[in-house]
Parts: sequence; structure tokens; C-alpha cells
Amino acid sequence: MTWEETIQHIRKQPEYRFLVEKAYFEEQLSLNVERYRESEEYKETLQKIRQTTPNAKRILDIGSGNGITAISFALDGYDVVTVEPDPSQTIGAGAIRQLKEEYRLSNIQVYEAFAEEINFKDGEFDIVFARQCMHHAYDLKKFVAEMSRVLKQGGMFFTVRDHVIFDEADKVFFLENHPLQKYYGGENAFTPQQYTEAIETAGLTIVEVLKYFDSVINYFPEESKTIARRKKEVVEATRFGKLLWYFPSIRDRRANIAFEQIEKNIPGRMYSYIAIKK
Ligand SMILES: C[S@@+](CC[C@H](N)C(=O)[O-])C[C@H]1O[C@@H](n2cnc3c(N)ncnc32)[C@H](O)[C@@H]1O
Repeated sequence: MTWEETIQHIRKQPEYRFLVEKAYFEEQLSLNVERYRESEEYKETLQKIRQTTPNAKRILDIGSGNGITAISFALDGYDVVTVEPDPSQTIGAGAIRQLKEEYRLSNIQVYEAFAEEINFKDGEFDIVFARQCMHHAYDLKKFVAEMSRVLKQGGMFFTVRDHVIFDEADKVFFLENHPLQKYYGGENAFTPQQYTEAIETAGLTIVEVLKYFDSVINYFPEESKTIARRKKEVVEATRFGKLLWYFPSIRDRRANIAFEQIEKNIPGRMYSYIAIKK
């Protein structure tokens, strides 16, 4: 099946209802945008952008799928250029064009291309943003190099929710457990070292790596209050755990160690990267 056929198929299967809703695969395209804009993930994403590049105007949104992020940025006033290689009306550039019309947006341009093959000029963008896209790169170093080339000095490269694997066995574990891999076979993931090397060799400086449990940007649809509660429970279950509420730094260290173990057992856990072109 193609990716488009996969999404059309799972929309009809009741067991995928939660996934369709939370991964923004609803047939009614604007419903996905509205849900994404309301999400804790998007609010945190916007906060990181505003904190890092408060004067940014022009965003390149790469691998935009059905347009949830590109349309949201446009609705929030940014000038958006969106690039998506898949022309699909369901989950690709065609869907984004429909949304552009529906929302009557004049501040968004839609192109069909792979990140490795874009034609924009050097230094055109204040921000390059990619959600769940970089791990699909067919050439990771070229992908990031092109994103760096089109960024201005001081610009922000922000990739969110990229699947991470630690070795080949972990990659098999990820692919075997991905709910849609059996239908379309297009999943991929890289190691943290591969992401870091690609970003740094492209001339970018990493300023923040958000590991899976560091941010709701990664662990959505879980909510941050749920994760905070689980961290509390994990610490309280350890020896003298309840007393640790009086020693916050030890408590947090213990929670982080426990959650590093939990993260290892999540197939293809996702990380996010913030880098600056200096
Ligand atoms: C998991 S989807 C994410 C879509 C969207 N960003 C979102 O978060 O809903 C990955 C997207 O990346 C696109 N893609 C795959 N390879 C790509 C590449 N080399 N360059 C740019 N986009 C790519 C796919 O067509 C797909 O739409």
C-alpha cells in the first residue's frame, strides 16, 4: 500500500480510531488543524520558536504532510513556505492547498519537493521547521545541509518528533512495533549520533536536544501533567522516595534515571533538536 492508501484504510478500521485522531489523519482536514493548534505540543512548539527567534517572520516547513504545522504557522502570522514531496489530496501537498483555500490564506506557498532537492536561495528563511520528517530523509546529511543553506545567519533549525534508535537491533524492535509499517513499509530512524553529526557538519550549532521525556513535543498525546504524575509515582516507589520531595534535585535525578530506562523500552522513541546557524 502507499502511504495515502494506508491512511484511507485505517480511517475505516475502528481499532485505529485513536491513532487517526491523535496523529491528525481525519478526512476533514481543518479538524486536524484545529486539534493540532489546541494541543499542548503546538503551544510548546510556538513557545520554543518565540523564545529562540522572537523576530522571525519567514518559516520553511519541510515534509508538511497534510499541513497541520504549515497552516498553523500561517494562521499565527508567519510567512510560510511549505514543501511536501507527496502530491496527495489526502495527506500531501494537495491537502495543504485545500486548506490554504479554506482558510483564505495569502501568506503560505506550497511546493512539491524532497528536502534534499529544494531550489530556494541561500539564507532565505528565519526558521526551518520539520515535524516527524527528518527521519524520512533519503540522505540525512544532504537533507540537513540543504536546510542549513537556506537558513539566515542566526536562524533556527527546529526538528521535532524524530524517531531515534540506538543500534540495529533497536531499529528492528522499532520497525516491528510501528503500527503502520506492515501496510506501507516506509518507516525509518537514525541514531542520536547520526542526527548530531548531520546537524553539526551542516554548520549548525545544537542548542537543545529534547529527549523523549524532556518535552510534551515528543510524548504527545501523553500530557505533561500525566508524565509529571508518573515521575512522582516512580520516585515515591523507591526507598525513602517520599522524603525526596524535600530534596528536589535528588528527586529529579532519580526520576530522570528511572525514565531513561523507560525510554529505552519505547520503540523508536522520538527526540527533537534545536540548532542555530551561527
Ligand atoms: C510522518 S509524515 C509527517 C507529516 C507532517 N509533518 C506532520 O507532522 O503531520 C512525514 C512526511 O515527510 C515527507 N517526506 C518523506 N521524505 C521526505 C524528504 N526526503 N524530504 C521532505 N519530506 C519528506 C512525507 O511525504 C510525509 O508527508
